[in-house]
Amino acid sequence: MIKIFDDYFVLETENTSYIFGVDEAKHLIHYYYGKKIELKDNEIDNLKSRREFAVGNGISYSEDKHKITMESQLLEVSFLGKGDIRNPLIDLTYEDGSSTSDFTFVKAETRTHTKMKTLPTSYDDKYKIEELVVSLIDEIHEVKIKVIYTPFYNENVITRRLEIISRSDKEIIVNKAMSLQLDMVNKDFDFISFHGSWIREMQKYVQPCIIGTISSESICGVSSSRSNPFVMLASKNANETYGEVYAFNLVYSGNHLESVETDTYSHIRFLTGIHPYTFKYILNKGDVFETPEAIMTYSSNGFTTMSHNMHNFVSKHIVRGEWRDVPRPILNNSWEAAYFKFDQAKLLQMARKASKAGIELFVLDDGWFGERNDDTKALGDWYDNKKKLPQGLKGLSKKINNLGMDFGIWVEPEMISENSKLYRDHPDWVIKNPNTTQSLGRHQMILDLSQDEVVNYLIDVFSDVFTRSNCKYVKWDMNRIFSDYFSQKLDKKHMKELSHRYYIGFYRLMEVLTSRFPHILFEGCSSGGNRFDLGILSYFPQIWASDNSDARARMDIQQGYSYGYPLSTLGCHVSDIPNHQTLRNCSLTTRYNVAFFGNLGYEFNLNEISKEDYKEVVRQIEEYKKYRNYLFNGDFYRISSKDGYYHFEVVSKDKKHAAYLYFQTTNKSINDEMFLDFKGLSNEMEYVIHSLDYHHNILDFGGLVNQISPIHIKNGSGLHKLLSKFIKMNEKGEHIFSSGSLLNNSLLPVYNAFVGTGFNEKTRLMFDNDSRLYLVDSKE
Ligand code: GLA
Repeated sequence: MIKIFDDYFVLETENTSYIFGVDEAKHLIHYYYGKKIELKDNEIDNLKSRREFAVGNGISYSEDKHKITMESQLLEVSFLGKGDIRNPLIDLTYEDGSSTSDFTFVKAETRTHTKMKTLPTSYDDKYKIEELVVSLIDEIHEVKIKVIYTPFYNENVITRRLEIISRSDKEIIVNKAMSLQLDMVNKDFDFISFHGSWIREMQKYVQPCIIGTISSESICGVSSSRSNPFVMLASKNANETYGEVYAFNLVYSGNHLESVETDTYSHIRFLTGIHPYTFKYILNKGDVFETPEAIMTYSSNGFTTMSHNMHNFVSKHIVRGEWRDVPRPILNNSWEAAYFKFDQAKLLQMARKASKAGIELFVLDDGWFGERNDDTKALGDWYDNKKKLPQGLKGLSKKINNLGMDFGIWVEPEMISENSKLYRDHPDWVIKNPNTTQSLGRHQMILDLSQDEVVNYLIDVFSDVFTRSNCKYVKWDMNRIFSDYFSQKLDKKHMKELSHRYYIGFYRLMEVLTSRFPHILFEGCSSGGNRFDLGILSYFPQIWASDNSDARARMDIQQGYSYGYPLSTLGCHVSDIPNHQTLRNCSLTTRYNVAFFGNLGYEFNLNEISKEDYKEVVRQIEEYKKYRNYLFNGDFYRISSKDGYYHFEVVSKDKKHAAYLYFQTTNKSINDEMFLDFKGLSNEMEYVIHSLDYHHNILDFGGLVNQISPIHIKNGSGLHKLLSKFIKMNEKGEHIFSSGSLLNNSLLPVYNAFVGTGFNEKTRLMFDNDSRLYLVDSKE
């Protein structure tokens, strides 16, 4: 809801208010963002600064407005040159070389939420959402800025973006144009951001806002696993259910910067937008520069509410298309099962077994095209490798369909190998300076998507790949970061526009292909989660969260994503052990339990697992198929837990079903008494909570087996191994009936862990990096 008053504006969502206005110098001043407040008549004055004199040796804005020192104000739009000495929202250079701007208020009006011309935009398919457009002008330089705010009432999210419009005959250089600025008093905030690398995405870091600037940023050409654009500002004592949390994200997939500057007056300035370091844009008369849309939300009661706001927003206003609300098919991916070494016969052998197990989609990963027998060549040569696939993609796909499964395909459209026909034909289509030696990443280079010709070519080539393969799923990969920023088609003056122009081209490519193939489920990927962001999710409803599918490592990675992104956006697979990334062994059930909290897939050849494991996979698939219908887009809870224990819960929107994961990293001697701490169930419903029966191997008990054996069994002996085939130590699954009200309010004790003094079927035997999944159904 938007309210326009004479000199101030109120944006309201269900639980938040955002208030700003115009001061006597006609600058936009920030008054309030937080828990919803109702302003009475003239109460706006209580939100305004009562400063009567200029600050110390600060710069006065003008002699007639002497007391205004912009450095001490909380601004909505900051710029260089008029006394504000903090990091600016906007930095422009004018033709005379100056960079002093002065943007003052012209008007504010509402309109229907409008799609951007060059970049993806949030949307609503139910209501006509309104947005507030505030126009500012720098009269001297004839530049206008539109600041566009869109409140999403139910989700408690407000988005913000800028348009910079030149009305000048002279050239204007945009050095920096961030999307969102939030100036506030520092209430002892922590800046919380997510960093990592390949196979270690989304690790959470907390830094106190004390003085100076801290940031989360990427200049590697993609949003990156190094620094995700989702960040938070939280009061020091915040936890899952308590404390103030502000959270932000950016609908953009390229270089980004989120900075928090704490000044000596105990103000903080948060900024998010395109990273200025690898950027410059030149505007001529009539040109409009659109910044990406930034997202913000606020919770007065901790991280869980903040995450629910973000999840609901991303699920309904970023993700779009036919797959938005549909639980995703269970897939079997060929990558870790075969890497580059396969032929049609091998793939079909895998697919047959997968289909029998109930898998719905078979995905052929890398290696199906050109001379692609390793990762040094052939990217760009998107014709079928007939040695591996004699009837091409078309023939293979048909055979997979005949097995009752859909066919999916891996592609890496933005990339090109030096050793490829495409490169030999079009060396100037590549991001590369021909006068220097190009640095490669995974032996490959990046196509220059700032060139329309290249994008048009890719639209044609991939329309053909998707049509001839009759695929129902596409894994769209992007396996290197940028280097040698250089377009062979841009002139020197515009060279720094490359990284942004790349994304304008990239979004056009995605827009055309996803609208041409609306039935295809697209999954983004960039060596795992190197481009996990809202720009990608505006086109592809899910992203392969990490190449690391080790259950232990995944707990941190998936927990990291869960702060800002709903489970429905995460690709999560069960893979072989020892795990190919960490060489760790986790049980098949635990690998599944962790992958259950996302879109499930399998990365191994089901012909190569034991009969017992195959049976377990079949069980998992049946269970997942049932629960995905309830839990897809459910409410996710990270339950606060002690070091070494993780508790995840997801509750269906109608509260009739839930799943609760208990994961322990270390099997401590005398384990803590174990409780489940349910959240979000209905106080009016009754539930049954159930877990699996476990049949433990007697080899796991070593010599202790003699405590129950009538004859002596030597630990690890042939006899021990033989008996282990027939005798199991059973731990019975739990079946607990309880009211929702008890579960919501009290801890629920479950079987205690083995502590060395005895074992029976009501003892939980868990090892390092082990888990239990409790499924919950309402009694009806
Ligand atoms: C990247 C992806 C993997 C796999 C390989 C294929 O590393 O993240 O999942 O698709 O490429 O080369």
